[in-house]
Amino acid sequence: MERINIGLIGYGIVGQGVVKILKNRRKFFKDKYKKDFFIKTIADRSIIKKPSPGLDNTVLTADHHVVLNDKDIHIVIELIGGMSPAKDIILSALRNGKHVVTANKELLATCGQELFRQANADNRMIYFESAVGAGIPIIRTITEGVAGNKFNGVYGIINGTCNFILTEMSRRGLTFQEALKEAQEKGYAESNPTLDINGMDTAHKLAVLVFLTQGKFVSVKDFHVEGINHISHDDIEFANTLNLTIRLLAIAKKIGNELDVRVHPTLIPKDHGLATVNGVDNAIFLDMDPMGDVFIEGQGAGQMTAAAGVVSDLINLGIRKDVRMPTWIFNPTEEQQDLNLRKIDAVETRFYIRFMVIDKPGVLSIITGVLGQHNISIASVNQKQENKGSTVPVVMLTHVANERAVRDALEQITHLAVVRSKPVAIRMEKL
Ligand code: HSE
Repeated sequence: MERINIGLIGYGIVGQGVVKILKNRRKFFKDKYKKDFFIKTIADRSIIKKPSPGLDNTVLTADHHVVLNDKDIHIVIELIGGMSPAKDIILSALRNGKHVVTANKELLATCGQELFRQANADNRMIYFESAVGAGIPIIRTITEGVAGNKFNGVYGIINGTCNFILTEMSRRGLTFQEALKEAQEKGYAESNPTLDINGMDTAHKLAVLVFLTQGKFVSVKDFHVEGINHISHDDIEFANTLNLTIRLLAIAKKIGNELDVRVHPTLIPKDHGLATVNGVDNAIFLDMDPMGDVFIEGQGAGQMTAAAGVVSDLINLGIRKDVRMPTWIFNPTEEQQDLNLRKIDAVETRFYIRFMVIDKPGVLSIITGVLGQHNISIASVNQKQENKGSTVPVVMLTHVANERAVRDALEQITHLAVVRSKPVAIRMEKL
């Protein structure tokens, strides 16, 4: 029986999950795939503080070079995350003839093209199923399952922590902080949860989806990224009464030869599939030609789902020995080369805008006057019934409006004497 020697670098939550699966299923995998998936070495800087993997004959080390320099290791799993030393580890592993499995979305979003080219030059493969949506097979769906389709748009809920926070604020009335704490305790959040709530984790994953679907390597610095920090219970309740749901959405739409790529909280109709994605679940909605729509949903964060994605990569590498990086992943086609990113200022959507204003006659006409000056047309107005003279939330839904115009109008409105705090604007998406 062929033995597949694995070197695991990074023995954190996900790494420990990978070990659990490979330990419990080793015999089953031997029977099924006729391969022995064996963890030869585990490297982790703080290995002595980590729980014992309980594996016989597995070397434990604090030095990842032990893995990289071992000629008998066939596949290196990089699970330390971040840019450095993860990038050097992957490059060295490839140069030393090893296939690589990684879940490192930040690294792939930032240096994917370089890493894939290197892999191709070294006749090796980088698999990264868990980089987006953890074990949900979205990478394999895009690269293999729906190959041959043209992607008009990708819409995703791809951060479990944010979706858990938004859902639990709504379902159980938790505060933002309570919901975040629970997401951290359940192991959904990144070691730095700021990356989850400020939208950057979603942006990294979106950049991965963009190069897979559109052949364009976009930097997260070049598209609009907004997190969920400013979303309040008021917004969630208002949305509910308007038959809408707030989700942190990753959007990548092809419009002519432009790509409209952005990450922000988005109001979507309650009856759309994406609005029913709750808790830690992730979902990706693909709009394609000729196939039409495909919707894929599942648990998108957490130890075992991420570990399952890594193990699926291991198995696919193990059973396809001579696989190498396909050139189309890092070389855009002629049509793709012509794609430009649409500037956020040029984007046009409908908006939900919540103003905190003094409850007295004439206030609404002042606000609508400014919106009118900026060519922003109002579709509806709602106000919560509160005591006269106090500050009240007023919510307006606009018709389709230009992003820049809305920003300029809100800047002006923020400084009005009748307005008590910066208005909250949430884009609405027609899906
Ligand atoms: N922190 C990430 C999330 C984990 O919440 O989705 C999976 O990448």
